[in-house]
Amino acid sequence: MPPALRDGTSAVMPGKIVQATPEAISEAARLLREGNLVAFPTETVYGLGGDATSETAVARIFAIKARPHFNPVIVHVPGIAEAEPLAELDERAREAARRFWPGALTLVLRRRADAGLSLLASAGLDTLALRAPAHPVAQQLLRATGKQIAAPSANRSGRVSPTTAAHVADELGDDVALILDGGGCIVGLESTVLDMTVTTPALLRPGGVSVEALTEVLGPIAAGESNSDTPRSPGQLVSHYAPRLALRMDAAAPRAGEALLAFGPCQPPSLTEMLNLSPRGNLTEAAANLFAMMRRLDRPEFTGIAVMPIPDTGLGRAINDRLRRAAAPRS
Ligand code: TXA
Ligand code: MG
Repeated sequence: MPPALRDGTSAVMPGKIVQATPEAISEAARLLREGNLVAFPTETVYGLGGDATSETAVARIFAIKARPHFNPVIVHVPGIAEAEPLAELDERAREAARRFWPGALTLVLRRRADAGLSLLASAGLDTLALRAPAHPVAQQLLRATGKQIAAPSANRSGRVSPTTAAHVADELGDDVALILDGGGCIVGLESTVLDMTVTTPALLRPGGVSVEALTEVLGPIAAGESNSDTPRSPGQLVSHYAPRLALRMDAAAPRAGEALLAFGPCQPPSLTEMLNLSPRGNLTEAAANLFAMMRRLDRPEFTGIAVMPIPDTGLGRAINDRLRRAAAPRS
């Protein structure tokens, strides 16, 4: 149990970050079962979790994030066995889950009528997005809660996703019952969202599992519809993942006043603040650093953030997707 304070109340105060000890995970599970929201680490980004079977808990997720109600959330399960009663998995979907779960892949599947999940989680669609996260804290939390956990990224809608517990505290502060601290997220980008309800699996959001890796297991992957105002993966709005500052992609060098987000060994000489996503040009490292570095440069003393070109292969596609949306005109 968390240490008791002198007045007898728990040391776990609203909005407080706690180390994800077994005791804290039990406490988080209790809070979730009682309908509260808990932020927790996954290997991709931190999630804002709520009981996926509770319409009220899911409604609170939408309210706290100021998330548009047409944008469904991902439901997290420990693994394939727990996914089967919720949605229709064909052999192809099972193969994808066997290969990439637990991990950074979300499968959009036909929802079973008797799934028993909040309808709001699917935002009125007859499909369901399921993911089994690999982070041990997420796994332990799912098992301790004994329920499916609906969890979007733990940021306000449209903003940069959190990759540390401190990012969550900065952004959602007292709006969550508890923030479980499991350290920095190893992948650093959200999961890949793959629509398995169509003849050729369609990429709805590039993410932590690369298209190249998916193709090896599933064959051809169709490009999902990109930048539309009524996207099938409705979270993929044109402006998203946005820092406060304007972001400029494919920059050879920063302009006066801009901070620089560099990539690779050949960074330009710079008099301004500069962070390098990966000095050795490694895309996995760059993905893990992306959101944290965007946050660190998002300061009012700069006029914008210039980002050097990132190769558009493997995880680079997901990085460029996030950068394009961060650079898009805000509505
Ligand atoms: O890595 C992740 O996926 C993180 C961690 C916490 O698991 N979660 C996350 O959730 O990024 P969120 O809500 O920020 O993004 C979910 C994405 C959105 O683009 C949403 O539109 C899409 O998944 N999505 C959810 N349900 C869907 C469905 N039934 N059909 C199509 N797209 C769906
Ligand atoms: Mg998100």
